[in-house]
Amino acid sequence: MATAKLELRNLKKSFPRGKEDIPVVHDMSLSIPNLEFLAIIGPSGCGKSTLLRLIDGLIPGDSGEIFLDGVDIAGVVGGRGRGMVFQGFDLFPWRTSRGNIEFGLEVQGTPAAERKEIALHYINLVGLAGFLVCLTALPLFGKILSNVSIASLQLNYNWAQSVV
Ligand SMILES: Nc1ncnc2c1ncn2[C@@H]1O[C@H](COP(=O)(O)OP(=O)(O)O)[C@@H](O)[C@H]1O
Ligand SMILES: [Mg+2]
Repeated sequence: MATAKLELRNLKKSFPRGKEDIPVVHDMSLSIPNLEFLAIIGPSGCGKSTLLRLIDGLIPGDSGEIFLDGVDIAGVVGGRGRGMVFQGFDLFPWRTSRGNIEFGLEVQGTPAAERKEIALHYINLVGLAGFLVCLTALPLFGKILSNVSIASLQLNYNWAQSVV
């Protein structure tokens, strides 16, 4: 059988509430083949974001394993092949769209001209090419913000030595 792209085995996470530990992710196992999309749907507070944070390594699990391409990544923060577009997009409002998209490369010390060229490729990829918004301070429109976040994520996924 081919190795799953992402596999969770008996993943568990609880949060303390008062003297109790409240289980949020209960012994979760699943296997996602390469190139498959998975939607996780559930009521507010059921643990969707917690599950994504566990997979991205932003919080440690209590127990269980997380395999990406067959490699155990449980508790490993970020890294190539993973990224998260946050509900609030988590962009820098004082930077332009391109400035946000370039940020990971800037931290790595990539020269400005190279950063610009790479960023423009990703701006084009998410359909923002030619929009004045790329040159001005970050706009407040949800659709554009989400596209800027996705471009930034894609760029870091492909280029960053570590995800920022
Ligand atoms: N850092 C935390 N500390 C304590 N409780 C948390 C923490 N993060 C999430 N929770 C609790 O875990 C449960 C699941 O939260 P969350 O994963 O954000 O749900 P969802 O994304 O499905 O709305 C909620 O009851 C929430 O209050
Ligand atoms: Mg959530």
